[in-house]
Amino acid sequence: RARIAIETHARLVPDFPEPGVAFKDLTPVLAAADGLDALTAALADACAGADLIAGIDARGFLLGGAIAHRLGIGVVAVRKGGKLPPPVIGVDYALEYGSARLEIPASGIDFHGRRVAVVDDVLATGGTIAATLALLAEVGAEVTDVAVVMELDGFPGRDVITAAAPVRVHTLCTG
Ligand code: PRP
Repeated sequence: RARIAIETHARLVPDFPEPGVAFKDLTPVLAAADGLDALTAALADACAGADLIAGIDARGFLLGGAIAHRLGIGVVAVRKGGKLPPPVIGVDYALEYGSARLEIPASGIDFHGRRVAVVDDVLATGGTIAATLALLAEVGAEVTDVAVVMELDGFPGRDVITAAAPVRVHTLCTG
C-alpha cells in the first residue's frame, strides 16, 4: 500500500540533483491523506518494538509524530544544531562539503535503556542517521530499528548504518 501511495503521489523531478536522475519528491505523498496513512502505517509496523521514536530534522518530524501516535508512544525531535534550549548533547559529522551538527535535549528525557526507533524520509550517504545513532548511544538508548521511506540508489547508507550499530534498517522504496 505504501509503495502504491508513493507511485501515485510522488512528484518526479527530472534531472535532479544531476542530469539523468529522476528525483522522487515525497512532499505530495505526505500531503495526501491516504499517502500519510500508508507511509505511517508501514513505518509504524517497522518500529513496533520501540518505546520512543526519534524523528530527524526536518521531515522525520512529520513522520515521527504520526508513527509515535499510532504506536501509543512518545516522540523526540533530533534537531539541527542551535535550535534547542540548553542543556543539549550534540554530535558533529562530516558532509561532502563542510560539516553539520545534530542535537537532542540533555535533560528532561530519560533515554537510558529506552528502545528507540529512528525515523527519517530519505537515506542517502547514511551520515545523518549514523550521527543520530552515535548521539543516542551516548545517552544510553538502545536503538532497535531505523525506518525510512526512501533509500536512494547508488548510496552506501544502509551499509554505513549497519556498520555503525546492530540495528534493523527498514525502507519502503528506492529512488
Ligand atoms: C536530507 C534527508 C535526510 C538526509 C539524508 O535532509 O531528509 O535527513 O538528508 O542524507 P544522508 O543519508 O546523506 O545523511 P537534509 O539534510 O537535506 O535536511 P532537511 O531535512 O532540513 O531538508
